[in-house]
Amino acid sequence: MPEAPHFEALQAMNPFVAERLSLLDPMERAWHPSDYLPDLSKEDWREQLEALRASAAGLSDAALVSLVGALVTEEALPNYSIALNRIARDETGTCDHPWAKWMRGWTAEENRHGDLLGTYLRLCGRVNMRSVERTTHELIARGFDPRTHPDLYCGLIYTSFQERATSISHANEARLAAAQGDLFLAKICKRIAGDEARHESFYTQAMGEVFRTDPNDAVLAMKTMLRTLIVMPGQFMTDGRDPMLFDHFAVVAQRAGIYTFTDYAQIISHLVKVWGVEKISVSGEAARAQNYLCKQGERYMALAESVDANLKLQPKVSFDWIFGREV
Ligand SMILES: [Fe+2]
Ligand SMILES: [Fe+2]
Repeated sequence: MPEAPHFEALQAMNPFVAERLSLLDPMERAWHPSDYLPDLSKEDWREQLEALRASAAGLSDAALVSLVGALVTEEALPNYSIALNRIARDETGTCDHPWAKWMRGWTAEENRHGDLLGTYLRLCGRVNMRSVERTTHELIARGFDPRTHPDLYCGLIYTSFQERATSISHANEARLAAAQGDLFLAKICKRIAGDEARHESFYTQAMGEVFRTDPNDAVLAMKTMLRTLIVMPGQFMTDGRDPMLFDHFAVVAQRAGIYTFTDYAQIISHLVKVWGVEKISVSGEAARAQNYLCKQGERYMALAESVDANLKLQPKVSFDWIFGREV
């Protein structure tokens, strides 16, 4: 099998990656889900649990559905590790080159997100956990195609985009939870958003280095990624009842302001800006790609209003995750 495009270029970045392993939480200072959850081994566990459940009592169905969608997406972490290993090439599972170390450290940090959100949702007693679990199970089994194949640069663009998207959506969920009186959940979502922002910084810096060393192919890869909408990691989710579950969840999350089309457009504009796409010096096909990319954020922004209007027209849908209630 031929080597994936840009395999060598990414391998040459190992020293660059080594210098950025500090973007991972140092092991001795790492946070853990238990830091944000009731301690059931303590005498006052009932009071702690009651406090959590009272805090969650005011969450709207839209907030719950958005949160479950975020949880399921986090829980499908094995899918993303498989995808990332195309770049990291941890052939043995314990390789000690920097890309492999980054990938395992990143996986360990991401693993906290699903763990924390899942435990919180179970303890709060407001969602149908079996239905949520079934959705996760099926999503992992169905797999995930980020449409970054075969160019490894596309993988870095995708991760930069997704880490920023999750950072924004967890931060918005934190704000919504606080507004609805759930300060427990607000703290949890804020903590997770902070991790995503650190991860975003890593992938964005790595792709920034690619733009510096190989601007021609970098800009072409970005055009390839943005020619169609970036696929969402949870796109194949189903609870066994609703084959359109992901689309229905996405509508709820947009209406609740958790993750909107405007966010999407702004992420694209942001990446174009931080990678200096406008200023790079390229010619021919790459120059045409550059031109296309510089207008893409604005193009999406212009569509945002009609997307919003359309969202308002969408009928309510019943979610098994919240015992069939409609949102
Ligand atoms: Fe995450
Ligand atoms: Fe992430």
